Amino acid sequence: MTSRPLLATTREELSAVLEPRRQTGARVALVPTMGALHEGHEALLRLARQRVAGGPVVASIFVNPLQFAPGDDLDRYPRTLDADLEVCGREGVDVVFAPGVAEVYPEGDPLVTVDPGPLAAELEGESRPSHFRGVLTVVAKLFGLTRPDLAVFGEKDFQQLVLIRRMSRELCIGVDVVGAPTVREPDGLALSSRNRFLDAEARSRATVLFRALRAAAYHASSGVDAARDAAVRLLEGEPGVQVDYLSIRTPDLGHVIDARGPGATDARILVAARVGGTRLIDNLPLALGVDPLAGPPTGDR
Ligand code: PAJ
Repeated sequence: MTSRPLLATTREELSAVLEPRRQTGARVALVPTMGALHEGHEALLRLARQRVAGGPVVASIFVNPLQFAPGDDLDRYPRTLDADLEVCGREGVDVVFAPGVAEVYPEGDPLVTVDPGPLAAELEGESRPSHFRGVLTVVAKLFGLTRPDLAVFGEKDFQQLVLIRRMSRELCIGVDVVGAPTVREPDGLALSSRNRFLDAEARSRATVLFRALRAAAYHASSGVDAARDAAVRLLEGEPGVQVDYLSIRTPDLGHVIDARGPGATDARILVAARVGGTRLIDNLPLALGVDPLAGPPTGDR
């Protein structure tokens, strides 16, 4: 099905299309993005469509200056609105909300922002200290403008997903924050709008992130040290790749897991690295202390 979605660029236009639908009792889904849509975003749109059935799906496209630090790639962030509208049409999006900066921040830099708490200073926050304040502030605004029942975010940006889920819960915003699995290239590289900056050599080296995470998942049954060592071995063996962090944590990212912790544990491994000048991130779930090849304890295999 391809029908071009409605394009709203102001708050008034957005509520003019949404309010009549909301009044009929339809559930509203929001998928926030910064545009340059790829198959990862498409999977989010599809999940949103499934979750609200015939209710309106809103995709927002806004490159949020507040989450970029000076020297970040704000200016070279790709902007492809026409192609994005095509994608949204294909995925059954009803409304694309693509406001300008002045529409979202009419008074310039906001004086009141969302404090993302201590987790925002770790992992991605180590190198981007104000990033999650910017993300949570714009997502809170988008929630306020759209008032969705649910919003879909990718596990690709796992720390972002965890913080947004926490914000919705702790600030009693009441939006159901739905996580969607990471969409990958056939060789495992997680889709990202930044992949277009990789030249041929960096593109082939970049697969080491997924290979390292997968090696960790494979060795996780032998414990956290074995998992970490397997990942480190691969990352260190790849020239031209500078690891920013590699961390194994509880699924809420609140605690680093080390060998002194409990035996079988659900965990998440997260990595960030620079490959040929482009910073990439990825993550996977780990089942620590659980043999991935083992069957049920009593079974008829
Ligand atoms: P953006 O990078 O455009 O990503 C929009 C959404 O797509 C995020 O939820 C992200 O996790 C998800 N996504 C990106 N690549 C994916 C992949 N390969 N598989 C699955 N999902 C993927 O994240 C942002 O924008 C911004 O920070 C935003 C939340 C819009 C706030 O400005």
